[in-house]
Amino acid sequence: MPKRTKGHRDRAADVLAIFGISGDLAKKMTFRALYRMEKSGMLGIPIVGVALDEWDDEALRKHAREAVEATVKDPDAGALEAMLARLTYVQGDYGDDATFARVRDALGDAKQPVFYLEIPPSLFATVVKGLGKAGLVEHAHVVIEKPFGHDLESARELNDELRGVLEEGQILRIDHYLGKEPVMDITYMRFANSLLEPVWNRNFVSHVQMTIAEDFGVDDRGRFYDAVGAMRDVIQNHALQVLGLIGMEPPSGNDPDSIRDKKLEFFRAMRAADPKRYVRGQYEGFLDVAGVKQGSTTETFAAVELEVDNWRWSGVPFFIRAGKCLPAKSSEVTAVFRRPPLLGIGHGKTPEPNKLTFRIEPEPGSRMRMFQKKATAEDFEPADLEVLFEHEPGSDPEPYERLLGDALNGVHTLFTRQDAIEETWRVVQPLLDDPGEALPYQPGTWGPAAANELVKGITNWSDPWLPES
Ligand code: BG6
Repeated sequence: MPKRTKGHRDRAADVLAIFGISGDLAKKMTFRALYRMEKSGMLGIPIVGVALDEWDDEALRKHAREAVEATVKDPDAGALEAMLARLTYVQGDYGDDATFARVRDALGDAKQPVFYLEIPPSLFATVVKGLGKAGLVEHAHVVIEKPFGHDLESARELNDELRGVLEEGQILRIDHYLGKEPVMDITYMRFANSLLEPVWNRNFVSHVQMTIAEDFGVDDRGRFYDAVGAMRDVIQNHALQVLGLIGMEPPSGNDPDSIRDKKLEFFRAMRAADPKRYVRGQYEGFLDVAGVKQGSTTETFAAVELEVDNWRWSGVPFFIRAGKCLPAKSSEVTAVFRRPPLLGIGHGKTPEPNKLTFRIEPEPGSRMRMFQKKATAEDFEPADLEVLFEHEPGSDPEPYERLLGDALNGVHTLFTRQDAIEETWRVVQPLLDDPGEALPYQPGTWGPAAANELVKGITNWSDPWLPES
C-alpha cells in the first residue's frame, strides 16, 4: 500500500517553482497552461523559473511572452501581462548548492511550494536532493513527467532516489492522458449509468480493444523516440491508465486514493504480457529521421494482447494497438459484447456484436453500436446511439492546465502512484526483455499484417470511429 502522507499537507500552493523553464515543454505547453490559468483566475501565486541559461527576469518574461503568442491565438493582453508579472528567474546549475540557496531566497516566505521538474529524468534525483539539502521540501510537492524509468528495475531505482527525500504523497507524477476531459468522462459514463454495470464483465463482454493512432511520424523527436518506442512511449502509461479506468471495480469513498486503489487492483490482476502475443512494427522511413540510430530496431507501432485474472474479466482479451504514421489520428477504447445467437431473422445471418466505444480523440464522445432492421430488406443495419461529451468550447481545461491546477490546489486524484507504475512495468516487462522483430510497414497503413494475425479468430480491429467530415 502507498505510504500515507505525514509531514506535508495537501493544501493549496503559495508558490510554483519550475525547473527547466527554458526548455521545450515549457515553451510548447507550460506557458500556455499558465496563461490560461491566469485568464480563468486560477493562478494567483508567484512563479519562479529556474534554468542554466544566463537570463534575468526580463529575459524570462520575454521568452514566456513569445511562447504564449506562439501557442495562443489572440491572447488577452491583461491576462498575459498579469501572468508575466508573476515570473522571476533564478539562474543556476542543478548540481550546485548555491542554486538552491538562490531558489530559497526567491521563494521568500512561501510555505507550500510546488516544484515542477521539466528536466530530463536523469536530473530528477539531483534536483530533489538539492531541494532537500536546502531545507525546501518539508511542505512541498514535486511534479514530475514521464518517463518514470525505462523498465521495472529503473522505475524502482528512480523512485528509491526520490523517496530518499520525499514521501510518496509529495510526488505528483503526470500522465497527461489522465488530465484529458474525455478520459475523465469514461469514469462518469461507467459509473453514472446503472444499465452498464450489470453487463460490464466477462458474461457479456467478449473483448476490449484500444487504439492510439497518430497519422504523423516522429518528426523532430527522433533522438527521444528512438530510445523509447511505442510500447514505452504510450502503451505502458497512457493506454494502460485508460484501460485501468475501463476495467477497475467501482471506487468506494471519495478520497484521492479511491480510484487509484481500484486501478491498482486491476493492474495487479493483469498477467505479465506474453511476447508471443506481441507485434512490433517500424514505419518505412523511420531510419532516415534525424536522431534515429543507424539500423535501429525501435518500434513505431505495437500491438499486444493482455489478460486479466479476476472475476470480472477472466477470459476477456484486452487488445491495444498504438503507433505513428497510421491512417488516422484517433484515440479510442471499445468494449465489444458477445454476439447474439443465430436466429431466424436477417436471412439467417448472425448479427454483429454490439460495441460501446469511448472516443478520446478527435471530438470526444461515446457510441453504442446497436442493430436494427434495414428498411425494406430482411437484413441488419447498424443503428448507432452517439453522445458527444459535454464540453465548453474554448474553456475546457487542457490536460496540463488541469493537472498543474490540481497540483497547485492540493488535489492529487489524477496523478499516478508509484505502485501502479510498477505494476504496469511488471505487465510489459516480458515484452521489453523479449521484443522480437520490428516488422516494416508502409506509412498510412495499420501497421504490419501480423497485427491482424494477433486478433484473428477472436475479432478484427475496428475501424476508428471518426467524426463525419
Ligand atoms: C506523449 C508521447 O506522451 O503522448 C507522444 O510522448 C504522443 O509521442 C503523445 O504523441 C500523444 O498524446 P496527445 O495528447 O498529444 O494525443
